[in-house]
Amino acid sequence: MRLVRPSLEWKEEHEAYMKEWDEERMTPSSFHLKEGIPYEDYLKELAKREAGHDKWLPCTNYFLVDDTERVVGMIDIRHDLNEYLHQVGGHIGYGIRPSERRTGYATWMLAEALKVTDTLGINSVLITCNEENIGSAKTIQNNGGVEDESFTEDDGTVVRRFWIHR
Ligand SMILES: CC(C)(COP(=O)(O)OP(=O)(O)OC[C@H]1O[C@@H](n2cnc3c(N)ncnc32)[C@H](O)[C@@H]1OP(=O)(O)O)[C@@H](O)C(=O)NCCC(=O)NCCS
Repeated sequence: MRLVRPSLEWKEEHEAYMKEWDEERMTPSSFHLKEGIPYEDYLKELAKREAGHDKWLPCTNYFLVDDTERVVGMIDIRHDLNEYLHQVGGHIGYGIRPSERRTGYATWMLAEALKVTDTLGINSVLITCNEENIGSAKTIQNNGGVEDESFTEDDGTVVRRFWIHR
């Protein structure tokens, strides 16, 4: 298992993962592929987003790849927090391929991402999940997450907020 950076090499795997994704919204949104957009252009947009522009703070994105070179997860590590990220988004967003869930991948991927936040000098890592997302809450708690106050969005969605102190 390893984290790898998005590149042309992973185009087919990324597209297959995207087809398998079964929810309306891609998580993390940085990995959403729009129909008809060449993969090279997607990578250019991702690079711009990672560098930080408009509403985006600098971030780094990785695929989680298994020993058969299958992309089984995706993770977005934000280097800082703005008001929205402090309340709702957190430092790290992630998702696991639907067919690969509940085998410990998210727990492992988050542990690897925390090594990255260590190198960025982030001592307290904020990770959030919606109230009903038991799998994500457990993933965070498996990595030492300590719960802080929840935040309620305008539409009533309750966001649970956890800090991982390093
Ligand atoms: C949430 C998500 C990342 C969990 O990934 P995963 O690889 O299945 O997680 P893990 O296998 O590491 O499981 C972690 C724990 O949560 C539990 N869990 C996972 N999915 C669960 C579910 N749907 N219901 C209840 N418990 C669940 C596991 O049993 C495990 O519990 P344990 O530590 O007590 O054994 C995955 O379901 C997903 O990608 N969901 C859609 C995107 C998303 O919600 N991302 C997070 C945004 S905050």
